Amino acid sequence: MKKQFAALILALLPAFSFGAAGNYPLDKVDIDLADKAALQDGARTFVNYCMGCHAAKFQRYERVANDLGIPEEIMMENLVFTGAKIGDHMNIGMQPDHAKAWFGATPPDLTLVARVRGTDWLYTYLRTFYEDPSRPLGANNKVFPNVGMPNVLVGLQGRQYIGCKQVQVVEDGKKQFDPLTGTPITHEACDQLTIEPNTGTQTEEQFDETVKNLVTFLAYSANPVKLESQRIGTYVLLYLAFFFVFAYLLKREYWKDVH
Ligand code: HEC
Repeated sequence: MKKQFAALILALLPAFSFGAAGNYPLDKVDIDLADKAALQDGARTFVNYCMGCHAAKFQRYERVANDLGIPEEIMMENLVFTGAKIGDHMNIGMQPDHAKAWFGATPPDLTLVARVRGTDWLYTYLRTFYEDPSRPLGANNKVFPNVGMPNVLVGLQGRQYIGCKQVQVVEDGKKQFDPLTGTPITHEACDQLTIEPNTGTQTEEQFDETVKNLVTFLAYSANPVKLESQRIGTYVLLYLAFFFVFAYLLKREYWKDVH
């Protein structure tokens, strides 16, 4: 009996941890760390919209410029605002205790956040801020309830609030379609994130792209050697494949007379 109980607890554990992380379903994002244009766009968004509050103190401007193929002058003119030099770490001037007083929480360093949270979480988090007058800064978040961070991308995304929307019916994890006409079966749901049209400078698709590029940059930042490891890994595998052929031929040669 005790054993069964323990097994039950073990089986339920993942559900508990899932609950602790919030149960809003994460949107999947497919990022490409080799996409230099995406990385550059993400870096631009990061220094313009995030570095007011968050540092990336384990990362240097110079390394970013080199890895992303940004010439040094362009990097200094367009991406370094803090009076920092190209060899400096991406630090910010804000004092942690001031930040804590303003936002109720200190904005954490973001160099490694993609490793801690994962890219799907970041992608969903940055797109699910919504208006909530009950919060001190008027904003709340779907994956990080009662977050201390204000909705800093509202100018791009537009005003997002919880409203009613036609959504496709899902049964057993499958989207439902009308069997005769093939059109999606929908119902009205009133707990849906809704964007007020024309209140942001980007369309929904453009905004998703902006956030995807920003997440790509954060993923790169959390693991800058990944690009290189992938490249080297390919060579190692090619080498092994090549070596195998010779090893095999040699083995045949050695064993020829034994049989
Ligand atoms: C005005 C200040 C401010 C700006 C600008 C800002 N943030 Fe934040 N951010 C915060 C604060 C404060 C928190 C801590 C929230 C909490 O713990 O309740 C936070 C938390 C976060 C977290 C959660 C970290 C974690 O793992 O708990 C992420 C991710 C994040 N911010 C990303 C960003 C990105 C990306 C940008 C730029 C688009 C950005 N932030 C811009 C203030 C800011």
